[in-house]
Amino acid sequence: MKIVCRCEDRTEEEIIQKIKQGYKTMDDLKRIIRVTMGRCQGRGCRRIIARILARELGVPVEAIKQPTFRPPTKPVPISAAEEK
Ligand code: FES
Repeated sequence: MKIVCRCEDRTEEEIIQKIKQGYKTMDDLKRIIRVTMGRCQGRGCRRIIARILARELGVPVEAIKQPTFRPPTKPVPISAAEEK
């Protein structure tokens, strides 16, 4: 068992199973098993999942469209919003 998305605890086997069920884009996988939606927002898994998709679909990795990427949020102290 190889964990691919640590934030959402998803394995390579699960991802391959979903691809075989017909989920053939990064957005499909994102919506069905939440990969790339964890705390790191896909920093840790996007490239790996793209390579798995490319391998399973028999296409070059460049042909895999990346999902919308948003930087992770981090807490900001309330004092940062106060006027000085
Ligand atoms: S490792 Fe997949 S969202 Fe963080």
